[in-house]
Amino acid sequence: MNQMIIDGQKIDAANQQTLDVINPTTGQVFTTIPRGGAEDVDRAVKAARKALKGDWGKVPAFERGRLLMKLSRAVMDHQEELAQIEARDTGKPLSTARNDIAVLSRYFEFYAGGADKLHGDTIPFLNGYSVQTVHEPLGVTAHIIPWNYPAQMFGRSVAPALAMGNAAVVKPAEDACLSILRVAELALEVGFPAGALNIVTGLGEEAGAALSRHPGINFISFTGSNEVGVLIQQAAALNAVKCVLELGGKSAHVVFDDVNIDLAVPAIVRGIVHNTGQTCTAGSRLLLQKGVYDRFMQALADEFAKTRAGTPEMDLTCGPVINRKQMERVNRFIEKGRQEGLKVVAEGAVAEGVPAEGFFVTPTLFAAERHESELLCQEIFGPVLVVVPFETEAEAIELANATDYGLMGAVWTENGGRQQRVARSMEAGQVYINSFGAGGGVELPFGGVKRSGHGREKGFIALEEMSTIKTIVHHHGA
Ligand code: NAI
Ligand code: MG
Repeated sequence: MNQMIIDGQKIDAANQQTLDVINPTTGQVFTTIPRGGAEDVDRAVKAARKALKGDWGKVPAFERGRLLMKLSRAVMDHQEELAQIEARDTGKPLSTARNDIAVLSRYFEFYAGGADKLHGDTIPFLNGYSVQTVHEPLGVTAHIIPWNYPAQMFGRSVAPALAMGNAAVVKPAEDACLSILRVAELALEVGFPAGALNIVTGLGEEAGAALSRHPGINFISFTGSNEVGVLIQQAAALNAVKCVLELGGKSAHVVFDDVNIDLAVPAIVRGIVHNTGQTCTAGSRLLLQKGVYDRFMQALADEFAKTRAGTPEMDLTCGPVINRKQMERVNRFIEKGRQEGLKVVAEGAVAEGVPAEGFFVTPTLFAAERHESELLCQEIFGPVLVVVPFETEAEAIELANATDYGLMGAVWTENGGRQQRVARSMEAGQVYINSFGAGGGVELPFGGVKRSGHGREKGFIALEEMSTIKTIVHHHGA
């Protein structure tokens, strides 16, 4: 039995309805959340507006930074409690959940430091004029958060918004929102004024749709599926507000003959199996040059075969996927790969002793002869990696870009010129050279091109995304 947080109060949905929350490890209901709807969203947006006009709007930038730093510390003081909540809600291994909470804390810390450091300009203009630019909050920011990294995504989206003095209304995913509700309580405890941060739980098509369409919001941040991303942008258009969309990817590793195999193999396996493949930046395609193909594939298969899916407490490579629908989706892709004649090169395993009703899938490594399969086009969001051979650098670049998505990529080679050429040619928002998605990367601007979305999160640039510039032109005479 959980409650939403609106205007500093813990409350039920106006309609008193609830949704069951299922533990993905057991497939069993373990608690409920309010089934918030349009009425609750409206209340939250009004509370946020009131906060902007009242206490929250008066907090100076450095004090906002101090509040964020206090929240960062409070999160680490509650790391184990939050990690346990996150692991039960999502099924992820406890060590992954602990790391996610540390990254959440880091987001608050990073943007705490940034809150008073986005300076405006003075601009040379006509004689007798002084011109300045001032960064102002956008106003009420709406944040629709996915279920794969609830705590991390919350920090990524909300910390820069609060740092810039916006008031936030957050709609976490119905599948996993408990860590977010707990962090919002901590925010009240460390002194964020009522209404600065509001959480409305509920279904995407109810609470989420109502929030994205609400005429009282000034901005939408969304991470999730392509399908819903399009709806969000349409909703943003209705009110002519800006949106930042992060819509997943089909990220490719490009591995050349001179690859450092010992370095690449563990990073590539981790890059697809971590979080059971439910990562927007998962490296789900591997383009492998023919000269190293056999040797690399052998090492990759050996490493891949060691992967184990288990319960959070077993703390293995990964956990279950989030829900039955996602389990069926991943299994459908694996089945489709087999039907298409892709070769199963290696499989991980589901550990013995996991609950029979849990949403576990088998990590699967496929080899394809050509870059043609549906498994190479669509985001599977599971621990499924497909390897495709190539001969030349030009061919590798063409294949790497042969997708509608453009979120991330990696190039593995010791040749410096090639590192730079391939990195520059990849259509992606982030490219790694001889590593992959290491750590939280809170400092690193992040986002997509093509259907992976637009706008940038993380790094200092998020502060610009979450604010607007006012130009003040002062005519005082020469
Ligand atoms: P989804 O896009 O439906 O859910 C993401 C968030 O959007 C949730 O908070 C959900 O409540 C909300 N939402 C859903 N419908 C909405 C609507 N009409 N208006 C406003 N908000 C709405 O994602 P879903 O269906 O859970 O997963 C399907 C696929 O989406 C996955 O297999 C994966 O490929 C992709 N996905 C990508 C993520 C990423 O990190 N880029 C995260 C989650 C899903
Ligand atoms: Mg959906």
